[in-house]
Amino acid sequence: MSELSRTGISLEQDLLAGFDKLIARRGYKNRSEALRDLIREALLTEEVDSNQPVVGTLTLVYDHHVPNLSQKLTEVQHHAGAMVLAATHVHLDHHYCLEVIIMKGRSKVIRETADHMLAMRGVDLGKLVLTNSGAALHGEEHSHD
Ligand code: NI
Repeated sequence: MSELSRTGISLEQDLLAGFDKLIARRGYKNRSEALRDLIREALLTEEVDSNQPVVGTLTLVYDHHVPNLSQKLTEVQHHAGAMVLAATHVHLDHHYCLEVIIMKGRSKVIRETADHMLAMRGVDLGKLVLTNSGAALHGEEHSHD
């Protein structure tokens, strides 16, 4: 993490009161941490919109009795190759499977791959969440030191 800088902002009282309620509901200890997260979220949205490298977590719920569906989902992931970092499969019940697929790459390609799988017949629920390590948001390479 880089060094902290202090800044002051001016807000209408109503807006600040609404913000304080929001951060209390979400369990933030102070305004600074809540503001930092909001800014990170805005920067991430920009990265995703500009096709920057991100990490995507795709959750799928599908009926494995639909013919060829499992194979088709596997084929898409093999085609995506190194972009797929990991996949986890859970047999939810007699019919339904839950799959979580973690991908790394350009946001546009991840989104296309996810949309392709989500649109398949038999895939009943699903959601793609795009995020990143936060390194780019801090303007530095990520390290675990
Ligand atoms: Ni299953």
